[in-house]
Amino acid sequence: MKEIKRIGVFTSGGDAPGMNAAIRAVVRTGNYNKLEVIGIYRGYDGLINSEFQTMNNSSVANIIQRGGTILKTARSESFRTEEGRRTAYQNLINAGIDALVAIGGDGTFRGAMALGNEYDYPVVGVPGTIDNDLFGTDFTIGYDTAINTVIEVVDKLRDTAASHNRLFFVEVMGRDAGFIALRSGIAGGAEDILVPESKTIIEDLIDKLKNDRRENKTSGIIIVSEGDDQGGALEIARKVKEKFDYYDTRVSIIGHMQRGGSPTCMDRVLASTLGYDAVNGLLEGKRGVMIGQMNLKTVYIPFEKATKHHQEMNKSMLTMANILSL
Ligand code: F6P
Repeated sequence: MKEIKRIGVFTSGGDAPGMNAAIRAVVRTGNYNKLEVIGIYRGYDGLINSEFQTMNNSSVANIIQRGGTILKTARSESFRTEEGRRTAYQNLINAGIDALVAIGGDGTFRGAMALGNEYDYPVVGVPGTIDNDLFGTDFTIGYDTAINTVIEVVDKLRDTAASHNRLFFVEVMGRDAGFIALRSGIAGGAEDILVPESKTIIEDLIDKLKNDRRENKTSGIIIVSEGDDQGGALEIARKVKEKFDYYDTRVSIIGHMQRGGSPTCMDRVLASTLGYDAVNGLLEGKRGVMIGQMNLKTVYIPFEKATKHHQEMNKSMLTMANILSL
């Protein structure tokens, strides 16, 4: 195995609060271990275009608290092609970069896996996505901040919902995973939580709302994950209204504000730990793995496993949420 002297770090896919804390940890752990650390801008596009910059400890000063990513990010179409990956690999070799730390979600790790398999090139991954949809880590960087953003919004919507006796359908992100909806729904005391992992039956939702009426609830919050099988919040609100129009209904789609903002303490510590473990993992010979954390212990999950399926949703939390919202 070639000795690692110079490593590259980049962020890719949707940005997530805490990515900067992870970059900082990679740069400083690398420098501590006498490695040269190269920042790669705009994810895989930057690899293809050689957007490289040497980073030292001061390049990452004052960023642990900042959302977004100082290295910028992109969802690269070119890297999906063999030609794109060949160019990227050549650029890495020309720049003398011996290994990479890729910070991102499942798309990022699929790219990393392809590069590793095709060119036998060492890459480790750090899970950074608000969706929390990677197998093999309890939490991904950015998830905690995103759900805290959601509950701040839900609390505010609850004030106006209660004042006007209104029912709000609140759509949250998560692509095809309902983890943001699940936790923010529980923490926000939602009347119902609709997630792609469990089939949504409109009649059941209406029965629940009718029951709430009998219990004299005058307003409510329904959290809808954007990937729900019955559609987004607008669509579901329309379907409910068609059959049950007791409530004055409003729809609120939170959108990209879930991706921004200063990372929570949880996300900063997780990102720092995973960034630190990523560099140490590379130096210990780890390759082709995502650095995750389960039960507060570092785990190394092959990219193939991390990207193949989501971590399973704990359905008993949905049951609990239903009981607590009665
Ligand atoms: O993966 C993060 C995420 O925010 C998803 O929750 C969402 O579906 C998607 O990215 C939105 O992507 P874009 O920023 O490209 O609109």
